Amino acid sequence: MKRISLVFLTVVCVLLAAIAPARSQRPRDVEQQVNALLAQMTLAEKLGQLQQLDGEANGNYRPEHVELARKGLLGSTLNVRGAQKTNELQRVAVNESRLKIPLLFGFDVIHGYRTIFPIPVGEAASWDPTLAERSAAVAAQEANNAGLRWTFAPMLDIARDPRWGRITEGAGEDPFLGAAFGAARVRGFQGADYSAPDKVLACAKHWVAYGAAEGGRDYNTTEVSENTLREIYFPPFKAAIDAGVGTLMSSFNAINGVPATSNAFVLTKVLRDEWKFDGFVVSDYTSVRELINHGVAANEEQAAAAALNAGVDMEMVSRSYNQFGPKLLEQRKISLATIDEAVRRILRIKFRLGLFDRPYTDEASEPQSLLRPASLSLAREIAARSMVLLKNDRNVLPLPNNVKSIAVIGPLADDRRAPLGWWAGDGREENTITPLAGLKAKVSPQTMVLYAKGSDVTGDSTAGFEQAVAVAKQSDVAVVFVGETHEMVGEAASRSTLDLPGRQLDLVKAVQATGKPTVVVLVNGRPLAIGWIVDNVPAILESWMGGSQSGNAVADVLFGDVNPGGKLPVTFPRSVGQVPIYYNHMNTGRPPEPENRYTSKYYDVPWTPLFPFGYGLSYTTFKLSNLQLSAPRIRSADRLTVSVEVENAGTRAGDEVVQLYVRDVVASMTRPVKELKGFQRVTLQPGEKRRVEFTLTGDHLAFWNRDLRFVVEPGEFRVMVGSNSRDVIEAKFEVVER
Ligand code: BGC
Repeated sequence: MKRISLVFLTVVCVLLAAIAPARSQRPRDVEQQVNALLAQMTLAEKLGQLQQLDGEANGNYRPEHVELARKGLLGSTLNVRGAQKTNELQRVAVNESRLKIPLLFGFDVIHGYRTIFPIPVGEAASWDPTLAERSAAVAAQEANNAGLRWTFAPMLDIARDPRWGRITEGAGEDPFLGAAFGAARVRGFQGADYSAPDKVLACAKHWVAYGAAEGGRDYNTTEVSENTLREIYFPPFKAAIDAGVGTLMSSFNAINGVPATSNAFVLTKVLRDEWKFDGFVVSDYTSVRELINHGVAANEEQAAAAALNAGVDMEMVSRSYNQFGPKLLEQRKISLATIDEAVRRILRIKFRLGLFDRPYTDEASEPQSLLRPASLSLAREIAARSMVLLKNDRNVLPLPNNVKSIAVIGPLADDRRAPLGWWAGDGREENTITPLAGLKAKVSPQTMVLYAKGSDVTGDSTAGFEQAVAVAKQSDVAVVFVGETHEMVGEAASRSTLDLPGRQLDLVKAVQATGKPTVVVLVNGRPLAIGWIVDNVPAILESWMGGSQSGNAVADVLFGDVNPGGKLPVTFPRSVGQVPIYYNHMNTGRPPEPENRYTSKYYDVPWTPLFPFGYGLSYTTFKLSNLQLSAPRIRSADRLTVSVEVENAGTRAGDEVVQLYVRDVVASMTRPVKELKGFQRVTLQPGEKRRVEFTLTGDHLAFWNRDLRFVVEPGEFRVMVGSNSRDVIEAKFEVVER
C-alpha cells in the first residue's frame, strides 16, 4: 500500500511537473526546474536535447522532425520558420512527447529578418553602436513573430583579411569597435529579458579566430598566439558575454592545431573557467563530424567524444552525439556528468527563454509585424548613416536639387539582390529599393534620370558600354554603381583579388572619359582595391550592401539630405598583395622610410593603405584641436581624462567620429603602433565647436604579457586623437608605479 501510494505520488508529481508551466525566471527556480526535468530524462532524451537539425530552405520542417520531436529526441532546428510552421512542429514536441520539452527554433537573422539592414561591416561603418542595437531589436521583433526564438548572430569575428568573404558579417578589423558593436547587437536581440515576445536569444559566433583563416580562404586553419587571441580575437566575445549573450557557436577552423570544435582551451578553460559563461555552445554546421577531416578523429565516434568533452553542448546537423553517445558512455569515453551538464546548459536557456511558458507564436500577428513603416524608415536611416564618403573633389557631391539630368549607370544600379548581402534572413527582393528607384523617387519632376546597365558585375562583355557612354553624354552628371554580387561575399566566398570584378573598371573608365562629372558608388561587402578610381574619379561613395532601403538611403546621401558621416571599420588596401594590412600592427625594427631601401615596405607599391581604418569624409569639414589630458602622469589604477575640441568649420551640419588611440611606447613585448580605445560620433551645426571627452583606465592601457598576465607596464604612453587612424594630433603621458 505504502509502495503504491509512493509510486502514485511520484507519478502525479512527474505529471504535474511536466504540465506545469515554468512561471518564474528567477535563477534559483530555473536551476531547480532544470534539475527536476533532467532527473526524469532517459539517456536518449538527454542526447535528443543536444541535437539540432536543419529544416528545408523554404522554412518547412521535415517529416523526420515530427517523428523525433514526438519521441523527445530533438532539441532544436535551424531554418524552420514562419509562425505556422514552427507552431505545428512545436505542438508535436509539447503535446505529444513524454516530457513536453519545447523545441528551440534558430535561424541566421544576421542583419534583419524581413526588413534587411546594411551588412554588419557596413553598419559598423556608422561607428554608432546604438544603431546596431536598434536594428537588432527590429530583427528580433520580426523574427520572434515568425516563430523564431534564437538567432545565430552577432558574428564577432575580427577580420584583417578582406579576401575572406565573411568580413562582410562582422564589425571589421578592430577588437574595440567589434566589442562595442557586438555588445550592442546582443542588447538589441535579447533586450533585458530575452523571454519577451519581441526578443530572441543571441549567439555569439564563431568562437574563435575564424577570421584569421590562412590566405583568407574560408574554413582554413589559423595560427594565432595566445596573446593575439586574447587581445584581438577574444574581446568582442567577452563583451557579448558581459552583455548577457545566451549562446555561442564554435567555429570551423583549427586554432594552433586544435579545431575550435574540440578545443578545450577556448571552450572550457576560457569560456567556463575564466569567464563563467553558463549558457550553451552549439557547433557550427556539421563541424563535429568535420573533426574527422581535420584529422583529429578517426571516425564519428571519436569526433563526438572530442567535441562533447571539449565543451560543445549542441551538435548542429551531424548526429554523432546521438549515434554514438550510448556506446561512448558505456566505454567511459564520455561521462554521464558531461552529458548532463550539456543538457543542463541547454535546458537552462530554454527556461530563461520562457519557452515552457510560451512555446507558440501568435500566427495572426505575423503579417503585421513584418516591414513595418517604422522598421523601414530605420533601415533607411541606418543605411544612410553607414555610408562612407571616400572622395569628393570639387564638391561634386552633394548633387544640386536642380540638377537637370542624371545618368544612372552600372550593373548594381538596379539590382535588387546585391543590397541584401549574403545572409538576407527572410528578406525578399521585391522589398528592395534599388538605387535607380531611390533616385527616381528623390528627384523633382524636372530632373531627367537616364539609366544604362553598362555591363554585368562579372564576365567579359562590353556590349553595354556604348549605351552607358551615350546616357552619360546626355546628362549633367554620371553616377556609376559598381561592386560585388551577393554571392561574392559571405560564407565560402573568398576572393584572390580585391579588384572590381568583370569589366566594371573599364565601364567606369569609359564613363569618366566622357568628361562628365562622375560619381562612383560602391556596392560591396569587403574593401576593394580601387586605386585607379581614387586617382581619376572626383567623387566616391562607399554604400556597402545597404539592405532593403539602400536605394532611398543612397539618394538621401547623394542629394545631401543626409550628410555622410560613416568611417571605414576596416583598412582599404591598394592591392591584394598588401594583405593582411591593418592599422593596429606592430612596429618593426625597420619601420618604413621612403628613402631607405632597407626598411619594411614594398618595392612596387607604397606600404600605406589606400584608405586607413577610421577614414571617411563629410560634406562639411571638421577641425580637431586643443588636445588636453587631465594629468601628465597617472598610476595604473587612476583614470585619465582626454579631451579635444572639435569644430565644424564648414557651412553644413554634419557628423564627425572623433577617435582616440593609444600607444604603449616601450614595453616588455612589441605593442601596436596605435590601438583604438574610444570613439564618439557627434553632430555639429556649421561653426559649432564642442569639447569631446574620453576616459582612459588601466584596462585600456594593459596588455597580455609574456606570462599571459594582463598588466599595465609603467612608462611612456602616447595618446592620439583624430578623424581617422592616420590623421591624428597627439600628446604624451606617463604611467608610474603605484
Ligand atoms: C555558418 C554559420 C551559420 C550556420 C547555420 C554555417 O555554415 O558558418 O555562421 O550560423 O551555417 O546556418
